[in-house]
Amino acid sequence: MEDRHARAITYLRLSVTDLCSLRCRYCMPAAGIPKRDHGDICSVEELVEITRAAADCGIRKVRLTGGEPLVRRGILDICRGAAAVPGVEELCLTTNGAALSRLAGPLREAGVDRLNVSLDTLRPERYAYMTRGGRLEEVFQGLKAAAAAGFTGTKLNVVLMKGFNDDEIPDFLDISCRYPVEVRFIELMPIGEGRNAQFLPAEAVLESNPYLRPLEGSGVARRYRSPGGRGTVGLIEPMSRRFCAQCDRIRVTADGKLKPCLHSNQEISLRGLHGEALRQAVRDGIAAKPERHHMNETGRSEAGRSMHQIGG
Ligand code: GTP
Ligand code: 5AD
Ligand code: SF4
Repeated sequence: MEDRHARAITYLRLSVTDLCSLRCRYCMPAAGIPKRDHGDICSVEELVEITRAAADCGIRKVRLTGGEPLVRRGILDICRGAAAVPGVEELCLTTNGAALSRLAGPLREAGVDRLNVSLDTLRPERYAYMTRGGRLEEVFQGLKAAAAAGFTGTKLNVVLMKGFNDDEIPDFLDISCRYPVEVRFIELMPIGEGRNAQFLPAEAVLESNPYLRPLEGSGVARRYRSPGGRGTVGLIEPMSRRFCAQCDRIRVTADGKLKPCLHSNQEISLRGLHGEALRQAVRDGIAAKPERHHMNETGRSEAGRSMHQIGG
């Protein structure tokens, strides 16, 4: 279905939990977040029912997010349920990778087509610092397990932060040469804890590496390849090159609120709705999608929630 700005909305980002196994400084408060009552979070059945209604409204790609989706009890049932929904052509999942070594195989069997893994540094001490205690080795093991389980087209999400990982751009480019993955440099957005870290424009990657060859873009990303590289490089620039005009997505939070836009505080409650009422609420959400975000003008997101509560 098209929204009011003639954008075809075909992509649902479905958050399955706001909890996470890590505490990345730009995403989560140090103290973590209060665990909610079970009943506040959508059940497996509700999540699948929402996916079905969204597919009836034209959604073709579903991405499971969090928090960290792999800490959600029943995640494999959610995957199986979403993968089986008629109309869903691609089921993806964004993860911090910490639990992937155990779950890559089962996720593949449960119908997940593609993974994006968040990885902001390749240095173990920095990783432990940024995630407040994470172990980099687990992510490497997870990536290996994903490849062994047959996942292809895996993307590594690198949020660029000045003074933290800008000196690792060459190392990440090296990864994109050696492995068949897409390394995506993402501009930090001023949302939640993200307002406390230092922004670096993704253009800096091109300035320091003029040999990168442009490829065809993919919606929200500019894409490149190093000469002879096995993998590719993506730049996601929500701040420097707003991609709202190509936006094709809606979001649903773990507590069942449809968010037409990541950066707007508009929310439509889906809980307790079924059948045609649920489909109508999804259509209303698509119709209500704002034209764009205003972070460039205001310096802040109007999301009203932080990234882990929406689904990165
Ligand atoms: P692909 O399906 O592989 O293209 O993944 P994706 O980019 O849609 O998903 P992913 O979860 O890997 O998100 C990557 C990054 O894009 C996030 O870290 C955000 O920084 C940014 N992003 C995702 N969704 C939105 C959005 O709706 N608006 C804006 N402005 N940025 C977004
Ligand atoms: N700006 C940009 N990306 C962010 N993410 C979390 N917070 C921010 C932010 N403030 C990213 C995570 C993950 C993805 C789903 O969202 O690093 O890769
Ligand atoms: Fe789409 Fe809103 Fe993100 Fe822009 S900010 S890309 S309109 S979800």
